[in-house]
Amino acid sequence: MRFTLHVWRQKSASDSGKMVRYEVDGISPIMSFLDMLDVLNEQLITRGEEPIAFDSDCREGICGTCSVMIDGVAHGPMRGTTACQLYMRNFRDGQEIWVEPWRARPFRIIRDLVVDRRSLDRIIEAGGYVSVGTGAAPEANVLPVSKENAETAFQAATCIGCGACVAACPNGSAMLFVAAKASHLARLPQGQPERTRRAILMVEQMDAEGFGSCGNHFDCEAVCPKEIPVQFIAELNRDFLKAALTSREFRMVSTPIQIEE
Ligand code: SF4
Ligand code: FES
Repeated sequence: MRFTLHVWRQKSASDSGKMVRYEVDGISPIMSFLDMLDVLNEQLITRGEEPIAFDSDCREGICGTCSVMIDGVAHGPMRGTTACQLYMRNFRDGQEIWVEPWRARPFRIIRDLVVDRRSLDRIIEAGGYVSVGTGAAPEANVLPVSKENAETAFQAATCIGCGACVAACPNGSAMLFVAAKASHLARLPQGQPERTRRAILMVEQMDAEGFGSCGNHFDCEAVCPKEIPVQFIAELNRDFLKAALTSREFRMVSTPIQIEE
């Protein structure tokens, strides 16, 4: 197979950057999108040109580093699929494809398709963990977790922190990421003591990093390679509101609202 690629090239954060057209051939349908970029880079190096910088690590859909917009869609056209697991058989021979980095204010471009996503790490550092002393591992049956909660916590925990939800959101919101990380702990007994505090701290850090707020567009859910549902955003909003209502500062300036348990 052969393709015409239009790839965003940018030497550094301060460079203005531009789309550059490339022809690549000798691509097998069983190659992944990243394999295809590898082939293009080999051809560029052979010609003495600068290879295209892009992120990757596991190449099996679990690390979340392969962050590229393909034809304007985060991770490309296949639902529930990372760019590293997107195979070239899903494209037409001879197709033109546009490849760009994640575009969101908190994701500074480092080079070409590589962006700085440490803002997501800082949101986790702000509260996405259990810090209370839990002692030695208890006997498993002492701390029962319902099947529904175990499965929902696991579903939230499948978030790979790729940032596609941010890149797809017209507001550049990280709410799906934050909600997945918070709900993963909120569904387990160990996550209860700090549950509402965690919601406040993570949302505050999200705001401080410059991410936008959720506008219920649901573009995040559409592109999430792990198909994290927006239901988790509703759960995070509920925890955040409960925390705000019980804080002294909030009670002084607001009319109390009843929250159903
Ligand atoms: S919620 Fe989905 S799209 Fe967002 S960071 Fe997690 S895995 Fe990626
Ligand atoms: S390279 Fe790890 S998820 Fe794509």
